[in-house]
Amino acid sequence: MRDGVGYLPVLADPAQYLAKAETLILPFGSNGHPIPGTPDASGPLRVGVDLGTAYTVLVVLNQQGSVIAGEYAFAQVVRDGLVVDYIGAVDLLREIRTHVEHRIGRELTHAASGFPPGVPRAEVRATANVVEAAGMRCPDLIDEPSAANNVLGLRDGAIVDVGGGTTGIAVLKDGKVVYTADEATGGTHFSLVIAGALDISFEEAEELKKDPRQQKRLFPIVRPVMEKVGSIVERHLRGMDVDSITLVGGTTVFPGIAGVVEEMTGIATRVPERPLFVTPLGIALSDMQEL
Ligand SMILES: Nc1ncnc2c1ncn2[C@@H]1O[C@H](COP(=O)(O)OP(=O)(O)OP(=O)(O)O)[C@@H](O)[C@H]1O
Ligand SMILES: [Mg+2]
Repeated sequence: MRDGVGYLPVLADPAQYLAKAETLILPFGSNGHPIPGTPDASGPLRVGVDLGTAYTVLVVLNQQGSVIAGEYAFAQVVRDGLVVDYIGAVDLLREIRTHVEHRIGRELTHAASGFPPGVPRAEVRATANVVEAAGMRCPDLIDEPSAANNVLGLRDGAIVDVGGGTTGIAVLKDGKVVYTADEATGGTHFSLVIAGALDISFEEAEELKKDPRQQKRLFPIVRPVMEKVGSIVERHLRGMDVDSITLVGGTTVFPGIAGVVEEMTGIATRVPERPLFVTPLGIALSDMQEL
């Protein structure tokens, strides 16, 4: 397995990728029509698969690194880097792959995949097996914080990935990941707290949580979970000489989380654009099969 840091050129303008991702990454189940002005899809492709606890994401980049297509689907097939529903994961990924292939008119024969740091090697292999069973060779495997940093291009600081199931913390020094930790607090807990407070189902809470019109009134309800995330981060970074925190992962889309984490840690904290897609984009950037 390769160490992802250092073998990819850091992007000149990461924001450019994220802005494109906004318009080109469609929710799974859309009609699949090509989007006008789609970037050139004729040359070598870089493909990334992120099997997360909440979302399975597939991203395709062209030679220049522009997003050609991407899709994601909510699915509970992987938990914290461990494949818990192998058949479900393969079926879903194959479906997403076929859909994207139709959209871009090209076959996807390979993809890079990511894994949370600290996951046993056998489990990392299981993730690659899912990608291969879905019809794509998968020799390029990268740990998730290194993938995120392919997009962010940080030399020093912390990347905190608040996903569906966990909060992953990675500290970078001179562009290399020097410390990682993963703890079981994530977006699922936000939804559970909302469901409890409003006496609604988890699914309803999940939808409500993602509705920008609702987030202001939900903020006081989820704030204690944000504080929990902040205290986890604070505990891991204590005494580590970290002067910036970059939040990624779907949960960090919720407005106000950066302020709470900054308050709890005393460290400057920011959320880049499209934080949900930073890691999947970085995984795709590590796919070297056609380059
Ligand atoms: N607009 C939004 N506002 C708030 N939360 C959101 C939003 N969009 C997605 N989420 C939450 O983000 C989480 C999924 O994020 P992400 O895709 O980064 O996680 P994952 O990679 O699947 O999980 P993990 O990294 O824990 O394995 C879910 O809990 C989802 O509810
Ligand atoms: Mg994730």
